[in-house]
Amino acid sequence: MKIIKLAAMTCLSVFVFVNGVIPTATIADESQRQIGYGRGGRMQGGAVSERSKEPIRPIPISFDYDTAKIELGKKLFFEPRLSKSGWITCNSCHNLSTGGVDNLPTSIGHKWMLGPINSPTVLNAKFNLAQFWDGRAKDLKEQAKGPIANPMEMASNHGLAVGVLQSIPAYVRWFKEVYKDEKITIDNVADAIAAFEETLTTPNSRFDAWLNGYDDKISESEWQGYDLFKAKVCITCHNGFGVGGNSFHKFGVAKPYDKDTQTLGRYNVTKDEKDKYVFKVPLLRNIELTAPYFHDASVWSLREAVNTMAEYQLGVALTDDETDKIVAFLRTLTGDQPSILFPILPPSNENTPKPNRN
Ligand code: HEC
Ligand code: HEC
Repeated sequence: MKIIKLAAMTCLSVFVFVNGVIPTATIADESQRQIGYGRGGRMQGGAVSERSKEPIRPIPISFDYDTAKIELGKKLFFEPRLSKSGWITCNSCHNLSTGGVDNLPTSIGHKWMLGPINSPTVLNAKFNLAQFWDGRAKDLKEQAKGPIANPMEMASNHGLAVGVLQSIPAYVRWFKEVYKDEKITIDNVADAIAAFEETLTTPNSRFDAWLNGYDDKISESEWQGYDLFKAKVCITCHNGFGVGGNSFHKFGVAKPYDKDTQTLGRYNVTKDEKDKYVFKVPLLRNIELTAPYFHDASVWSLREAVNTMAEYQLGVALTDDETDKIVAFLRTLTGDQPSILFPILPPSNENTPKPNRN
């Protein structure tokens, strides 16, 4: 028993360490993570192995990152000069102070243009099977090239964005250090940003602690909420590390979704009739932080989002008590937010293309 307790303590101290600026720690191996306290603080090793079969998996906290690359990617994530106006950054729409989103119905881009769709979070985006609501980018690297050149977002172009970076000696030095090349390429820009995004996970939520065997981390009604989440089969679409993100499904399985019939979702990628109104199932990690909800931002309250899902995906009505409990469970999915040391960016010089707000 003593040994088990010690392992659990080691596990805890790793959690704390990971909360630092750049998680470089390699966590205790799987067996250590699986050991925890039972309800009421008593050891209950048996309960833990049961939970390793739960359809939601705790966010892994083992990291083996290239520090120089993610520091560069972090600078680029906060680099306004990647936008034509010299003002918009990835963080403008994926604000790491507010759950990786802008909490707006649709984002504000170049010349105050309003985008067509709600901005999803970058937190835990590495767990998505593809990026964007319709999955049109296969991974984070491919995705990162999009917004820089999107006229409604950062409105730059890849040549210009690279030109800005290439004019700044410090960037040339950093890129050379990481990619062994004097010449900065858009591919390497995207690669560094993606590497930084890989670190934006939110482990150690109360629910993950429960999955890891710490029974008293969630309350009875939160646990009942999870039970309902499974019993009402929300879990068939929202599962895995991200509690979503690993499949495409139609919005309006039980009842056609009528609030937005313009956005065709996955159909835009596949042109397959059956993919109309099919979207990437969103991650439900940190969901309490990322209102408004749905691709069309039609709903601001999490209660209403849950009821909408029950109505349109499952064709059932939840009682108030059931909705409350599911919402209570969803709130246990908020994990440790990445703790970021705000990057200081090198100055422009006479060779740096000037910002252009037109
Ligand atoms: C003007 C606002 C805006 C800016 C700036 C912006 N994004 Fe986005 N981002 C969005 C919107 C809106 C979407 C969803 C678009 C869609 O699915 O069609 C999105 C989608 C994403 C996704 C996919 C997440 C998912 O769940 O599918 C990632 C990752 C992402 N952006 C990262 C970035 C990075 C990196 C940058 C900087 C290079 C950036 N974004 C700049 C608004 C923005
Ligand atoms: C058949 C698959 C499926 C089932 C079952 C399902 N969902 Fe969803 N869920 C989705 C899809 C797809 C979306 C994205 C819809 C959109 O915005 O286009 C979504 C979106 C959500 C959102 C909003 C997320 C965001 O970031 O905007 C919440 C909250 C949610 N679901 C909770 C639930 C709950 C609770 C249940 C059970 C009552 C449930 N879902 C059942 C597929 C499903």
